[in-house]
Amino acid sequence: MRKNLPLTLLGFALAGSVQAADWDHKDIADALHSVMEADRTVYTKLIVNRLANQEKVIKASEHWKDDKALVLPAQMFRYGSEAVAEKGAKFSYSLLSLWPINKQNNAKTPVEKAGLEAVNKGEPYYTTETLGGKKYFTAIYPDKAIAKACISCHNDHKDSPRKDFKMGEVMGGVVLRLPVK
Ligand code: HEC
Repeated sequence: MRKNLPLTLLGFALAGSVQAADWDHKDIADALHSVMEADRTVYTKLIVNRLANQEKVIKASEHWKDDKALVLPAQMFRYGSEAVAEKGAKFSYSLLSLWPINKQNNAKTPVEKAGLEAVNKGEPYYTTETLGGKKYFTAIYPDKAIAKACISCHNDHKDSPRKDFKMGEVMGGVVLRLPVK
């Protein structure tokens, strides 16, 4: 066993580098999104839904600082995305919707609009777009109501243009852009 360890490690290293080179834009976007989605789901289920909706120990509020409340899942997502941008990452991402509580989260480009309409069926949407003279691989993923907190908060929110979200339904989409050479 021990004798083979260096070889095994070399095998892993080679497999790793070959695989990395094989990854196309879709694979990279899917991988990044799987981490975003997992974190978003965990934060919503284990923190917001449990503490605000089930145990009722603390509220979640967009004015979390003044209210001494939990940060909303969408704010958690945006602060993460801003921190990634500050570090100079090559990719960018945001959470949008055709029924936004915050008008800033509406579709801005024709691709965003087409993508948000397409992901309503529950599957991701992939395309390329040119913005400011730069070409991007753009992936849009459905953002679903995975906890009761998602639908109760949006349906009851005074600024929500939709009041009939149901569990499991698509509420918006994550737009992820990777630059293409
Ligand atoms: C306690 C209230 C609350 C909860 C819980 C909540 N949201 Fe939101 N959500 C908001 C508010 C308020 C915004 C706008 C925040 C902003 O942009 O600053 C928002 C933003 C969004 C957006 C971007 C479009 C928009 O409406 O502005 C999507 C998509 C979204 N939420 C989906 C979800 C999903 C899915 C869940 C559960 C995983 C969830 N929300 C949980 C209140 C909530």
